[in-house]
Parts: sequence; structure tokens; C-alpha cells
Amino acid sequence: SGPATAALVASRVLDVPDFPKPGVMFKDLMPLFADGDTFRQVIDGIVAYHGRESFDVVVGIEARGFVVAAAIAYATGVGVVPVRKAGKLPRPAYSASYALEYGEATLEVHEDAFTAGHRVLVVDDVLATGGTAEATLDLVERAGGTVAGFTVLLELAFLGGRERLAPRPVHALLTV
Ligand code: PRP
Repeated sequence: SGPATAALVASRVLDVPDFPKPGVMFKDLMPLFADGDTFRQVIDGIVAYHGRESFDVVVGIEARGFVVAAAIAYATGVGVVPVRKAGKLPRPAYSASYALEYGEATLEVHEDAFTAGHRVLVVDDVLATGGTAEATLDLVERAGGTVAGFTVLLELAFLGGRERLAPRPVHALLTV
């Protein structure tokens, strides 16, 4: 159920102060990924929430989004498309730059990554300011996909990411 899954996430997140920069409280979900029972329950919870019919492909955002996206894709029988940091993709790609909670970054996706009109579920571990997710939205749309929604394990609501992505639906297993 929802509350049980939220409690699972809460029990497996570590707060790391001053990483990667002073003043930032980093939310480390590695303990959740590392525990087999927890990881399975978390992925099953996401799949149960979205169902198997609401998306055609999953996008995972580098790097921790890859872990979650691949598991959802495997569990639902869809494919997974990586959105990567600049300079990593081998073929022609669209680029989108964005401001992070800390610093700036550029994300890219292959121009031919999507079948036109395919419904895309965008997956990441954490939604903070929403800059990463908003850049990904831009990339998916430029590449011909349609964003069906966003799903994350942990949402930091005070940073306003959800509002930035409105009216597109955002699902978080745990919101703090
Ligand atoms: C973290 C996290 C999200 C993003 C959220 O990734 O995994 O992708 O920040 O922040 P935002 O909502 O403010 O944009 P990070 O940039 O640290 O990349 P990594 O997973 O490759 O370490």
C-alpha cells in the first residue's frame, strides 16, 4: 500500500550533509537499491500505481534513474530509453541545459529514441527543484514522445519540482 511503501523508502534513505556542495543535504538512496526485498517492493509499488497500460516506454535519467527505470521496464515488458549527461551518446542527440540545486548540467537524448506518439513514463530517484525533469520533458517532446507522467522514489516538496512540471502528473512514493 502507499503508506507502507513510503515508510520503506523513508527507512532506506540516508541524509548526507554538504554533498556535493556545502549547504546541500544529499538524499542517498543507495541503501534502498542495495536491499533486494526493499528494492523489489518499491518497484512493485510503482508498477502497481501506474499499471501496465498507461505508458509505452520508460525513460531513465542518468545516473540513479537508470536503476529504477530498467527495473520498471523489465517488470512491465516495455523498453527503456536513457537520458544522459552531455557527451555520452554516440549518435545525433537533442540537448537541454538546466540549473541544478547545485551547479548546471546538460542532458541529451538520441533524436530517434521514440516512436512518434509513444507515451513515456519518466523515472528518476529524486525530484528536487525539477530542473532535471523539466529538461527531460523538453527532450522527450523534441524527440517525438509524449510524457504520460513522472515517477520518483522521493520528492523534496519544498523545492517546488511538482509545480514546475504541472499539469503533468507526478507520482512520488515518499514526499518530504
Ligand atoms: C540528482 C537526482 C535527480 C536530480 C534531481 O541527480 O538523481 O536526477 O538530481 O534534482 P533537480 O530536481 O533539482 O533537478 P544528479 O544531478 O546528482 O546526477 P547523478 O544521478 O548522475 O549523480
